[in-house]
Amino acid sequence: MRDNIAPITKAVIPAAGLGTRFLPATKAMPKEMLPVVDKPAIQYVVEEAAASGLDDILMIIGRNKNALANHFDRVTELEIALEKKGDHTKLSRVNHSNTLADIHFVRQGDPLGLGHAVLRSRKHIGDESFAVLLGDDLIDERDELLTPMIEESQRRQTTIIALMEVPAESIHLYGCAAVEETDDPNVVRVTGLVEKPSAEDAPSNLAIIGRYVLRPEIFDILEVTPPGKGGEIQLTDALQVLAADETSGGVYGVVFKGRRYDTGDRVDYIKSVLQLALAREDLGPELAPWVRQLAAGLPEHPLADEEKELLEEMAN
Ligand code: G1P
Repeated sequence: MRDNIAPITKAVIPAAGLGTRFLPATKAMPKEMLPVVDKPAIQYVVEEAAASGLDDILMIIGRNKNALANHFDRVTELEIALEKKGDHTKLSRVNHSNTLADIHFVRQGDPLGLGHAVLRSRKHIGDESFAVLLGDDLIDERDELLTPMIEESQRRQTTIIALMEVPAESIHLYGCAAVEETDDPNVVRVTGLVEKPSAEDAPSNLAIIGRYVLRPEIFDILEVTPPGKGGEIQLTDALQVLAADETSGGVYGVVFKGRRYDTGDRVDYIKSVLQLALAREDLGPELAPWVRQLAAGLPEHPLADEEKELLEEMAN
């Protein structure tokens, strides 16, 4: 890192989605508070940001998100009760979330899409580079992603997105990048971006996963980005403007090959919980034999016709 470049210290975490895929669990609780093993999903994301030196976090929230503010605050009654019991392990677990970073909140207002949510951070971010972390993607803390992205953005003085290879049949769930190689095998130059293309239209199988290091130029572009896929203002569309503009310094992608857990839909969420629990020293050894036994006893389960139809519909 060059000395004269300002460090990146701010992160934006959009958390205003309605979480309809998880109803009724998300009727009165934001989906970001769903527990992944024994921590709410959002805490993993805040921990990741803090581990990369981002200690000023702005969450873009919707209605019904008070639980998020409470989770990252102190709970004096609980602290006193645990102190009295002398339960210091639990006490430090309770307090960990409120020591990670300064957390600020702003409401999104109208739910007009990810690009709109990021634009809501403009006043707080000002004229600095910043990171955006999406809560549906959890990155295993043993595999680095955000720190190399920040370093790359400092080194190249440009916008960096995180990319990951996905199977062709899943690309319609993501923003997709057309890329060129660079002299670094882990970094690509992004030549084009398209939000959630069909498998036939996708320029590659490199999907945007929810980590971005953005420069303040993005805000002016977002201000004039028209609604795109799904009628929403898409961050991908604003990034495409930068990728297509040679004078902007372009967009580069760090290609992630580590472990990523998707908590965005129910099946992936259940898989994430299981994988992370199995990896834990305090839970894995007890859980693993049970999972093996369960799996051995499972009957083959070919998809019923209705399920197949539903999957096809979702893919289109
Ligand atoms: C968002 C982005 C998409 C990206 C994805 C990563 O989509 O719009 O480009 O690939 O996050 O998780 P969402 O999953 O919020 O629909």
